Amino acid sequence: MEIISDKAAMAIRCDAVRREGKTIAFVPTMGYLHQGHLTLLKEGRNLCDYLVLSIFVNPTQFGPNEDLDAYPRDGERDMKVAREAGVDTIFTPSNEIMYGPNYQTYVTLENLPHHLCGLSRPVHFRGVATVVTKLFNIVQPHVALFGEKDFQQLAVIRQLVADLDFSIKIQGVATVRESDGLAMSSRNAYLTPEQRKNAVVLYKSLNQAQEQVAGGEKDASIVMEKAKATILSMPGAEIDYIRLCDPQTLDDVAAITGPTLMALAVKVGQTRLIDNKVLEP
Ligand code: PAF
Repeated sequence: MEIISDKAAMAIRCDAVRREGKTIAFVPTMGYLHQGHLTLLKEGRNLCDYLVLSIFVNPTQFGPNEDLDAYPRDGERDMKVAREAGVDTIFTPSNEIMYGPNYQTYVTLENLPHHLCGLSRPVHFRGVATVVTKLFNIVQPHVALFGEKDFQQLAVIRQLVADLDFSIKIQGVATVRESDGLAMSSRNAYLTPEQRKNAVVLYKSLNQAQEQVAGGEKDASIVMEKAKATILSMPGAEIDYIRLCDPQTLDDVAAITGPTLMALAVKVGQTRLIDNKVLEP
């Protein structure tokens, strides 16, 4: 496994791989790899000849009062996990390499960021879209893989790939969960044992909603009220949002008449957790 931190060296490596007629799968991450990332890597390994993983805690997607400095990092463990997952090359650029001294170009989307997480994290999707665009230009993969846990991020990336004419297939991969149902996330590492135990209410509320909808409930406000009560049964939980929306546009829906995205963001102490499920009537 090769580790590259320089942009030009990374682009040259990927060019050479493509010239050999090989296909490249790419898994962009911010490190602190967990089972969810491993699933993306495994799928990438199956889809293509060559597997690239990037590890870069992207400063532009964190707001001023967010957890950039505290974001969990464990480079040594990540290398071991990547090697075991059959990664061919890891790209680990520094902030200075990714964003030069006179950096001033950003990728913004008109609509998708003005929903869900984008409302409380106003710079987040600009940062994600910018870094992913830059990484796509450097690696130029055939396939890039992203988890469905970050549903809005996946929607933003699909949109930018379509809008900016990247010829990259975006592969969404189902959320990987702990044995009690909590969606895997690097941020779960922040939870105290008590918070960790209670955090299962997010998953529970999504399943309850699915049961309601499968039982014929069409009123989005009734489904959201029940989810709110379930989540607030957790001590210290603070709801950022509970939304039922169109899975493509992310616009709110009042009546559930087809597949509907239920998305949640909940603060547990200092930790912000997200989860989602597409509800099927
Ligand atoms: O999902 C993540 O880990 C990040 O948002 C991503 C896509 C690697 C961009 O920094």
